[in-house]
Parts: sequence; structure tokens; C-alpha cells
Amino acid sequence: MDTERARRDFPVFTGAADDPIYLDNACQTFRPRQVIEASDEYYLNYPACAGRSVHRLATEVSIKVDETREKISKFIGSRSPNRVIFTKNCTEALNLVAKGLSLGRGDAVLTTDMEHNSNHVPWIQLARTKGIIPKIVETPSDGIFDLESYKRMMSREVKIVSFAHTNNATGTSVPAKEVIEIAHDRGALVMLDGAQYAPHSKVDLDRLDVDFYAFSVHKMLGPSGVGVLYAKEELAADLEPLIVGGGAISTATYDKVEYLPVPERFEGGLMNYSGIVGSGAAVDYLESLGMENVAEHDAALNSLVTEGLKDLDEVSVLAPVDPQLRGSIFSFNIRGMSSHDVAMILDQMGGIMIRSGMHCTHPFFLTRRIDGCARASFYVYNTLEECNRFIEAVKKIIHDFST
Ligand SMILES: Cc1ncc(COP(=O)(O)O)c(C=O)c1O
Repeated sequence: MDTERARRDFPVFTGAADDPIYLDNACQTFRPRQVIEASDEYYLNYPACAGRSVHRLATEVSIKVDETREKISKFIGSRSPNRVIFTKNCTEALNLVAKGLSLGRGDAVLTTDMEHNSNHVPWIQLARTKGIIPKIVETPSDGIFDLESYKRMMSREVKIVSFAHTNNATGTSVPAKEVIEIAHDRGALVMLDGAQYAPHSKVDLDRLDVDFYAFSVHKMLGPSGVGVLYAKEELAADLEPLIVGGGAISTATYDKVEYLPVPERFEGGLMNYSGIVGSGAAVDYLESLGMENVAEHDAALNSLVTEGLKDLDEVSVLAPVDPQLRGSIFSFNIRGMSSHDVAMILDQMGGIMIRSGMHCTHPFFLTRRIDGCARASFYVYNTLEECNRFIEAVKKIIHDFST
């Protein structure tokens, strides 16, 4: 992949020596000019609503929304655009399923001990309000998902398995195909939280046969505040919408409501049209790079950084150490230092931006008695040179501050 060429598409990089070294891509990515222009195009040329008014501007927005749904559908290997529901982020998509399924007392949900709070807290809430039973697959100390303990946890009460496809703290992925086959054999549904997988690797959801798949477009070059829930139509038809109101209803009397068909029934209220249009451009951009090239590029940077730091006595890498198992994520601690201090010093010393703390996976860190970690995460515009500067900056911090 021609990173230097790609970088020229990102206005945030000016070519100056003080350009940001942004390694916080697991949180949110930068946007190329093509995405910014597509989002602006909405405000400049057809700043109206979709799916309601019949005038020409509204029709244009409706067409753009449909086109984007189609693009995203193809991008994720969905057999129909009707399986693509726009949300404001991955969190909303996960909540939509958790709260939309008719789960009740005694029904179990199976997650892992490493879920992001967005795929943990909704189930805890449902345990309190509806009496469902959250069950948790434990991860061994090597950080790698244990298929055998998963099989053991798959009891008859489990109605849905809901796992992060790729974990945001360790970077490890679950073997999605096996997980789904085992769950389906035992009559359970599967939702995957693809927030950290979809931006970095090709997904083929039809082939995976997953029931629900959630991700955020702002983690894959798209505008802030756009997420997607992929849902099989027959399952979506039975989901209770999370947000109800205008735009989601075909008719209503004073005491009854008829919803629009899937997917519109889940898109109540005016949407983030500019963001949706920009999301289409983000997907186009990623396709022009090639998702195989994106995965290879991210992995190469992760290998470089891991090689540069893993053998230092003062550095502990959040397991597994092998970068091939951690996609685009390098999480670590420096002996005697808090991760927030490491992150702040990196920013002040070298304009290097990473994430620190517990990464919204509090239970994972609290049970292991680890006070969080620093996380560098890589994407299409990061270069080998930036990674070398990151390695040197970490070494300097160790030299100056580590105990
Ligand atoms: C694995 C995972 N799931 C869910 C989310 C939530 O994404 P968002 O904040 O975009 O809703 C994140 C965000 O970092 C994540 O890493």
C-alpha cells in the first residue's frame, strides 16, 4: 500500500515536521478529503431530509441514503441492503439488539470477560430489569480465546452469544466461523461486535452466517456519529425498535402503531445524513486501498513496534506478545509508570497520540488487577517512520522516568 500517497488525502497532515503522530485509531480515525467533501456535499447541495418530504431535495437525500446503504451492504458481504441499519455508533447498534430481543427471566447471554462496556453493560442492565442471566467465557492468561471453555459454557439457556470480533484492549480476535457454527448448532443467535475488526479486515457476513454485526464508521475513515447494525431480515422483523417515532412508522392511531419495514423501522427521527453520505465515501476509499492491503499494512506496523519494544525489561506487552495475533493493536505498560503519564509524555514530547487507561473494558483490567495500559493502534496513514519515532520516544521515557 502506498502510505505516502494515502497521507496526501488527509488534510490533517501538512507534511510539516510537527504533523501529529496519531496512534489512537482504535478510538476514532482521521478522514480523507474524499469523505470530508462527500459530507460537505450534503450541506452544500441537498441539505434536506430523507424518506419524508416529496420535493426534489428530499428525494436526492433519499437516493443518497439508499446508495450508501447499498455500498455498505456490498462492503460487508451482506446479501441485501435491507440488512444494513444506520445507527449513531456501534454502541447503539449493540443496544438495539440487546434491548430489542424478547429476552426474559432465565434466558442467558454469553459474552467474554474482555468485552467493551458497550457489549457488557446492556446485558448487565437487562439482568437487573428483566432477569436475564449473563454468562462469561474466561480468557486464559495468554490472552487467546479458548474455544473449549466456550463450548462448555454453551448451555441450553443461552439464547444469544455476543462477542467482540476483535478485542479493543488486546487486539485478539475470536474464531468467528467456529463460534457461530457452535452457537447455531445449539440453537443460539450470534451477535459480533465488529468495531475493531471491520475497519481492518475484509468481512463477508453472509458467508460467516452471523445473525447481527455491529460497527462504527468513525473507526474506519468515516464521519463521527455513524454506526451500522447488520441484521438478518427475519430476525430484525422480530426486534423491538430502540428509538421509535417519526420516519419509522407507516401509520399510527391513538392507541396502535404500524412500523415501516426493516430497516427504516429502526431509524426513527431525522438522521445524520451528512455522516451517512460521508460513510459511503469512506467505504469507497477503503475499497480503493483494498482491505487485504489495509490488514497487511497494519500488521507490518504492529510487528515493527513489537519487535522494537518487546524485549525491554521495563516494557510489558499485554498478552499475547505475538503481533500476528493482535491485528493493529499494541497495548503495553512501562514499569513504575501509569499509562496516563506515558500517554501525556508521549504527546508533549513528540506529538505522539495514543490511548491510556482501561479502554472501556473495566472488568477485564479490574479482575486482573492491572491499572489499565497504554495502547498504540495503527491505520492506513501511519508510516514506518512514525512507528520508529514512537519506539524511540518510549525508550526515552523509560530512560528518563521508569523506576
Ligand atoms: C470493541 C468495541 N466495541 C464497541 C465500541 C464502541 O464504539 P462506539 O463508541 O463508536 O459506539 C468500541 C469503541 O472503542 C470498541 O472498541
